[in-house]
Amino acid sequence: MDNIRLSPDSKSVFIIDQTLLPNEEKEVELRTLDEMVEAISSLRVRGAPAIGICAAHCLCALSFSVKSKSKEGFISALRRYTSVLNSTRPTAVNLSWALKRMLDKAYVTPIDEIRSALKKECKAIYDEDVAMCLSISESGLSLLKDGDGILTHCNAGPLATSHYGTALGPILLGQERGLNLRVYADETRPLLQGARLTMYELMKAGVNATLLCDNMAASAMKRGWINHVFVGCDRIAANGDAANKIGTMGVAILAKYFGIPFYVLGPSSTLDLSCAVGSEIEIEDRDPSEISTKHYVKPMAPAGANCFNPAFDVTDHSLISGIITEKGIFRPPFDFSHKP
Ligand code: MRU
Repeated sequence: MDNIRLSPDSKSVFIIDQTLLPNEEKEVELRTLDEMVEAISSLRVRGAPAIGICAAHCLCALSFSVKSKSKEGFISALRRYTSVLNSTRPTAVNLSWALKRMLDKAYVTPIDEIRSALKKECKAIYDEDVAMCLSISESGLSLLKDGDGILTHCNAGPLATSHYGTALGPILLGQERGLNLRVYADETRPLLQGARLTMYELMKAGVNATLLCDNMAASAMKRGWINHVFVGCDRIAANGDAANKIGTMGVAILAKYFGIPFYVLGPSSTLDLSCAVGSEIEIEDRDPSEISTKHYVKPMAPAGANCFNPAFDVTDHSLISGIITEKGIFRPPFDFSHKP
């Protein structure tokens, strides 16, 4: 089942509702702008590349509801939808990247062909992501050997992309080719993407996977179980600083301490060369209830407890052994203007 697809009449978008996993694999249909905004904001669809792909499909579906007969009116309706979709999640740059690409396509297309051009463009974004993931997976796999242990944080698998994923891509490809890998998945507090989604994807593929609470990564490293850390990313600055799920920076610091190579994997749509350094990346703040009550039968913090709930952190480039995009493996000092 594709995790993101247009309905047969292209007027709505179907996604696998990731909030229901691992208990239920179910598609939901997004028909209106409000439903689309809710789905992205509440992480029914999540993971930087998937958010971009989904938003592109949403804009295409919404174009069918535009009534304007003038090109100017049509474009201004699309711009309004784009700006609302763009505001749903601020850190993953793939969102604005995909929406800009859709809007740029609309600008240069005659009005009566815009809908079909947008349909082709969102399919192209999806298909290119499949190819990028495969190429990232091949490069990542070139670093692995039989028996290796890999620690990952959050979920950067097929659900978070189009296919294969980024950080999980080399592992899934290795599994298909008969490599025996051991994978350790941080549970990823507070929304448990590691426990719910990474474990689901790895176990479904038959990978030897073990779930850890986030605070157990150091113990796993100290025991010698981890040969590499592979994580995804939401935005990479020009100097190689990389934003990813909250907790990633701590894993990178631990990896440095234990001398374990730490790799960031993501398509080049995640590069944001307009950010010179990681401190320029906007970090999404999320609802405190995700920490205090969500996933618990009863609240696990006193009512009204102050909570700090940033969705991402930025790993300094000095902690990163390599950044793997579809172009290959970039090594420090990071320079994304040339093919590695
Ligand atoms: O808040 P989320 O679940 O969207 O965060 C996802 C991550 O941090 C992923 O590691 C990242 O988007 C890369 S997905 C290929």
